[in-house]
Amino acid sequence: MPVLAGKDEVSGAAGRMDPTGISFRALRSDDLDLMHRWLNAPHVKRWWYDEGTSRPEIREKYLPLIEGRDSAKPFAILYEDGPIGYVQYCPISAEDDETYASLVDVRNSAGVDLFIGEAEYLYRGLGRPVLRRFLSERVFSDPKIEACVVGPEPKNVAAIRAHEKAGFRFFKTIQAPTEPETEHLMKLTRAEFEGESVG
Ligand SMILES: CC(C)(COP(=O)(O)OP(=O)(O)OC[C@H]1O[C@@H](n2cnc3c(N)ncnc32)[C@H](O)[C@@H]1OP(=O)(O)O)[C@@H](O)C(=O)NCCC(=O)NCCS
Repeated sequence: MPVLAGKDEVSGAAGRMDPTGISFRALRSDDLDLMHRWLNAPHVKRWWYDEGTSRPEIREKYLPLIEGRDSAKPFAILYEDGPIGYVQYCPISAEDDETYASLVDVRNSAGVDLFIGEAEYLYRGLGRPVLRRFLSERVFSDPKIEACVVGPEPKNVAAIRAHEKAGFRFFKTIQAPTEPETEHLMKLTRAEFEGESVG
């Protein structure tokens, strides 16, 4: 069993989950209460804190995504039709964020971010199939996207491991000027993704 879980985390001791229960749907405005609860859960808040955790901050951040006024596309992760977490992708472009795009420096790429909000679903093997299915159904389904990148903090061992299991490989360490921590940037190209079976 993992030895790295902090006191506010769970260990995944409840056993691995059947990945066939996973699906996605577009995030809705009536999910914002759920987002508020998830973003205030210690296991999420520890790694996902940019936008703040008050209701107004969450609404200000996510409503533009929900209403299609932002280039990031937001989804609820469902398990057997019930929401358990959040995943988004965003084409990386100099128009949106010139500094970040030049730090990443991968043409036709998209960034993916996710969290499992419901603690009882954590560390039970869902990370890989959630990522693989999301990339297949929502990201690489766009023929313009040639690569996907993710940037967990170097200390987020579970996230790095889950992304490795989904096929991502370390690319480089970057430091965005507005972020307090470096990013352990990982990359998965379309060719690499299509060369592996979808789990
Ligand atoms: C990151 C996240 C999506 C991964 O999904 P998951 O379903 O929980 O992870 P998995 O069970 O698929 O894999 C976790 C791996 O990390 C390992 N691990 C490392 N630290 C761990 C910890 N503290 N507790 C449990 N597992 C841990 C596990 O052993 C497992 O590897 P293994 O299968 O080789 O044993 C999920 O943990 C999460 O939402 N975390 C909180 C928010 C977050 O960190 N988001 C990512 C920001 S980049």
